[in-house]
Amino acid sequence: MNTAAISHPRVLVIHGPNLNLLGSREPHIYGRRTLEEINTSLTTLGLRLGVSVDTFQSNHEGALVDRIQQAAGVCAGIIINAAAYTHTSVAIRDALAALSIPVIEVHLSNIHKREAFRHTSLTAAVVTGQIVGLGATGYQLALRALAEMIPAPVAVA
Ligand code: DQA
Repeated sequence: MNTAAISHPRVLVIHGPNLNLLGSREPHIYGRRTLEEINTSLTTLGLRLGVSVDTFQSNHEGALVDRIQQAAGVCAGIIINAAAYTHTSVAIRDALAALSIPVIEVHLSNIHKREAFRHTSLTAAVVTGQIVGLGATGYQLALRALAEMIPAPVAVA
């Protein structure tokens, strides 16, 4: 009998401030899917793609920086929607820049079609790629893209 277990690469999905309110927060902009629904759909897709999905949400900049730092050496990729901190946080940008794994930035809304202060992403220049304006589908596409970038699962005895 083959007793080797498969160690799936881990992908961390990070949600920034106010995204805990998804479903009820400005649904005409952000859609009606709750954060829990989005996370569950990513975990399910991860099973099909052979990646293990961890999720994290915080309204606090320092907590987001801490979680990004903890991913080093543990996670094979990150999906991040830093929400409002996208436009303001040098600290989150620097934490992402310190990583050597692929990072995909996701925004539910098309930030370029909205107020001018949302047009600038401080994180865009340090991530692998960006998906904006596709609603919750953007997270699914980001996970598919990451799964293609990261090494295949390894068998461990
Ligand atoms: C957002 C866009 C940001 O400008 C905003 O502050 C958010 C959500 C998005 O997913 O569209 O909170 O990141």
